[in-house]
Amino acid sequence: MTIGSDDDLTGLKEIGRIVRECLMEMARQVRAGVATAELDEIGGRFLAARGARSAPRLAYNFPGHTCISVNDEAAHGIPGTRVLRNGDLVNVDVSAELNGYWADTGSSFPVGPVAAKVERLCGFTKTALRKAIYSARASRPINAIGRAVEREATRGGYNVIPDLAGHGVGRGIHEPPTVANVYVAGNRKRLNEGLVITIEPFLTEGAGTIVQADDGWTLKTADGALSAQYEHTLVITKGHPIVVT
Ligand code: CO
Ligand code: CO
Repeated sequence: MTIGSDDDLTGLKEIGRIVRECLMEMARQVRAGVATAELDEIGGRFLAARGARSAPRLAYNFPGHTCISVNDEAAHGIPGTRVLRNGDLVNVDVSAELNGYWADTGSSFPVGPVAAKVERLCGFTKTALRKAIYSARASRPINAIGRAVEREATRGGYNVIPDLAGHGVGRGIHEPPTVANVYVAGNRKRLNEGLVITIEPFLTEGAGTIVQADDGWTLKTADGALSAQYEHTLVITKGHPIVVT
């Protein structure tokens, strides 16, 4: 969506705060011994208590309140009986709707002590998000975002997962435009003031190809490599974007 009124911005900020706080609440419970379904229940209760509805449930009938993806699972992991162990890298993605406004956020969390290479991957992916947000301004090419992500990935010796991308959001969970994590030759689209998008770089130690698991939802790296993601919902302005999550 493109913000058209103060009410739009207020509504978006409200659901943005809820998904952010939900993610933080779930993050506090990330530790060895916790099943991903337990984490998801915490998220589901948090959203329900604020009158918000899970976006993946509402839009896609996803079998969970949130998406929880472990290690080589890049995205759309189904919460279940899998128990987190020290050394794992777990990604929690929370998106929800309130009063017709939708917001989306995600973060990867190391479980207990992890290998230095896991921390490093997380560090570069976070920096990729920060630099991409910094590059996003009204009238600039949307390609500035993918270029910033790609550069940071390359600097760290990582690959982007090109099939996973940010997106427009606000009146639905997935709206145009696609916000690629790579530079797309020939894409002339420019960002307009008030446009609401997510930026969500996915970086991996592997080649960056993903495959769908037998459960019909989970997207895993084809080579079994680790993947990390960080995501914010933001509003494009003439200056620094307004990050609502
Ligand atoms: Co998300
Ligand atoms: Co998203």
